[in-house]
Amino acid sequence: MAERSRWSSQSGFLLAAIGSAIGLGNIWRFSYVTYQNGGGAFLIPYFLALVTAGIPLMILEFGLGHKMLGSSVLSFRRIDRRLEWFGWWMPLLVMYGIMLYYTVVIGWCLNYTLFSLNLAWGKDPASFFLNTFLKRADSAWDLRGIVGPIFVSTCVVWLIIWSICYREVNKGIERACKVFMPALLVLTLVLVFWGCSLKGAGAGLKFYLKPDWSKLKDVSVWTSAYGQIFFTLSIGFGIMIAYASYLPKKSNLVRNAFITSVVNCLYSFIAGFAVFSVLGYLCYAKGLPADPEHFKTVVEKEATLAFVTYPQAISALPAFKRLFGVLFFLSLTIAGISSGISIVEALTCAITDKFKVSRRKVVNILCATGLLGSVVFVCHSGLIWLDIVDRFINHYGLVLAGFLECVFIGWILKARSLRKHINAVSRWKLSRVWDYLIKFVSPAILGTLYVMDVVDIIKHGYGEYPTKALILIGANWLILAFILAAVFTIYPWRRKPEQVIHRPEEDKLLV
Ligand code: ALA
Repeated sequence: MAERSRWSSQSGFLLAAIGSAIGLGNIWRFSYVTYQNGGGAFLIPYFLALVTAGIPLMILEFGLGHKMLGSSVLSFRRIDRRLEWFGWWMPLLVMYGIMLYYTVVIGWCLNYTLFSLNLAWGKDPASFFLNTFLKRADSAWDLRGIVGPIFVSTCVVWLIIWSICYREVNKGIERACKVFMPALLVLTLVLVFWGCSLKGAGAGLKFYLKPDWSKLKDVSVWTSAYGQIFFTLSIGFGIMIAYASYLPKKSNLVRNAFITSVVNCLYSFIAGFAVFSVLGYLCYAKGLPADPEHFKTVVEKEATLAFVTYPQAISALPAFKRLFGVLFFLSLTIAGISSGISIVEALTCAITDKFKVSRRKVVNILCATGLLGSVVFVCHSGLIWLDIVDRFINHYGLVLAGFLECVFIGWILKARSLRKHINAVSRWKLSRVWDYLIKFVSPAILGTLYVMDVVDIIKHGYGEYPTKALILIGANWLILAFILAAVFTIYPWRRKPEQVIHRPEEDKLLV
């Protein structure tokens, strides 16, 4: 019987889980999604989503991976063989969806770390980003070819990820996160204090924190909040299930889930101070009165906030512009890589659980095919593809994955049975409230928002994109992941699912 990989300490696991959660989503995505959805108003659905879905589902994923001792594939297969497809769908959608553009955005961050050294974006960062750097095409179908510097940086990112994932989890991912996470925290705190000390920062923070209640009537603000919570906590990715399967028998699952979720969201909230204080400064430097209308003139397009508005602000800083730029983009790069490795790990764990194949071989194949898949996002129309795929996977993929997880665990495995397991191994205990959250509250909210969101895109489309592009790129991406999941499911098991692994006996409660 094969022995399963293990974390070398509870803190190593916690740092890896936090490293997976804290990523580009916390700085790059959180800042523009918050901005797009009304600044401070967005924080209300965001924190409600954390409490009603984020934390309960984090506990669910930790509990499931720990109880079933397996990746998402093995875990769902052990619940019922008819659910194996779902165990594949999650990590495949993320690895061959999110990860393909995620690595490209980390690549942009690497490029921008270098650009910061000579403020290469000049006087017009928007034109630099869109025309000089991305060489953006206007149509999704106008791929035109690969943009050289972005391709090179994307290759570097995949190489770094490969070199970490290639090793066993306790030697690769765990060690990397033990270095990355403290470094990220220090860099972020420097940026926050620096940003908040700038003139005009207060006005920016006011816009960040002041709720605009009228926004809460808009259903897409709520789905954005739930989508962002799933993205930022890496829920519905299969990652947390795989990570928890490497834990010893006695593990404080509830406490770990709580810490991971809260630290992650607190980090986003704090990183928001670095972003919005600098936006306030930019208004001040441009001599604009600090009101929401003028903020709109500062931010060219939400998705490009980190790469257009921020460089603009960096250039306007009174001193140490280059250092500020390097720190900001380096933070993004580190955050991105610590999440990227966890995405590769989720699928690696699934494949090694089912097939008799070495971890190294799997990582080689995943990174090589991942790099190939990233190519479409480094072409001239990459930004359009990124925007559409990101929207579909987050709104229609992850939220659906979360909904199905609740249904399968709540009603087929039974929430009560998983809670019993969690309580047997954890010091912090769950009450019955958790069962109700998983069986009724979370799926009801997720299901309702999902249907409303689908109706919304059918009625209004998304952005300026033609319907054909939305269907051929966005919807097809979800369907292709489903087909791939079916292929992996149909393929026969090379190990008996009942016999794959065992947990060493000498487990102690590590806290
Ligand atoms: N959780 C990761 C992030 O927020 C994917 O970027």
